[in-house]
Amino acid sequence: MPKVTIVGAGNVGASAAHIIASKGLADIVLIDVAEGLPQGKALDMMHMRAIEGFPVRVSGTNDYADTAGSDIVVITAGIARKPGMTREDLLGVNAQIMSKVVSQAVAASPAAVYICVTNPLDIMTHLAYRESGLPACRLMGMGGVLDSSRLSFAVCEKLGCDPRDVVAWALGAHGEGMVCWPRFTTVAGTPLTELLDEEQIAQVVERTVKGGAEVVSHLKTGSAYYAPGASIARMVEAIVRDTHELQSVCAYLDGAYGIHDLYMNVPVRLGAGGVEEVVEFDLTEEELASLQASAASVRAGLAGLTGLLGDKA
Ligand code: NAI
Ligand code: 2OP
Repeated sequence: MPKVTIVGAGNVGASAAHIIASKGLADIVLIDVAEGLPQGKALDMMHMRAIEGFPVRVSGTNDYADTAGSDIVVITAGIARKPGMTREDLLGVNAQIMSKVVSQAVAASPAAVYICVTNPLDIMTHLAYRESGLPACRLMGMGGVLDSSRLSFAVCEKLGCDPRDVVAWALGAHGEGMVCWPRFTTVAGTPLTELLDEEQIAQVVERTVKGGAEVVSHLKTGSAYYAPGASIARMVEAIVRDTHELQSVCAYLDGAYGIHDLYMNVPVRLGAGGVEEVVEFDLTEEELASLQASAASVRAGLAGLTGLLGDKA
């Protein structure tokens, strides 16, 4: 059975563990700095086993020795945003946490595939890459799967269609600089551009980009976790089952789409080794320009990280 460690047993980490367990994808180790939290949540999930009938084990710990030899490590440790906060407001605190977590996790599981989730996502993933020394194919971030699912939701709300008929592509920064590609977003094979007018598409895109903030405005005490948990599980499934499927993943770009040395959501093929390939869609000049503008917004955030951490960033 594959072994998946989830660092951070808070809302997102526990939701991901629940879905990964229910799908029977892997044994799960939840680890957190909070004593008792991962142990309590893991035991609670083990109490579900008889009801849900999953074959995997979920355990909780505060010690990285118990995470040793993981196949996948998911990092959700950090603080989440509250109303009025952007993902970028989390930068300083979460950068310190990410640095510490990565060095401990990699020492225990040097051969694992890493999925970063902590916000601001693109910047934390880049930091983890620099700190870990791992090859880029084995270190990625989760943002695009969630954003694409929110785009699918917004399309379904607008058209009254079934999400199973929708293929949606949201890419670029996991934040205000997000880019949606209506021409590649299809409903039963028909591009969104043939189903909605420009104003309607703009409304769908706005609902998608503001999806995370919409949840925060309702919750008031934190940010989304069910859909993020499901998005993590979807990526874990592609890796443990070696599906080679295309997903929107925060991956390292070294020339694809004319973007260099940057982590951002792009279409990638995911399999057992992690990112197998960054897939370049045949874009119009306008689409390419919007992706590159999104890259510029991530680069501005990275500059902020360099200011905080100096050479480490
Ligand atoms: P949460 O507050 O419920 O959980 C965070 C957990 O991290 C806490 O249990 C805390 O004790 C733990 N933690 C803090 N420092 C740690 C350390 N050094 N080692 C291990 N654990 C540590 O927050 P939530 O809602 O689970 O969000 C977690 C992160 O994920 C936030 O940064 C949030 O913004 C981000 N997020 C990212 C998404 C994405 O699409 N990339 C989607 C949703 C949330
Ligand atoms: C979200 O998109 C906060 O990044 C998190 O919900």
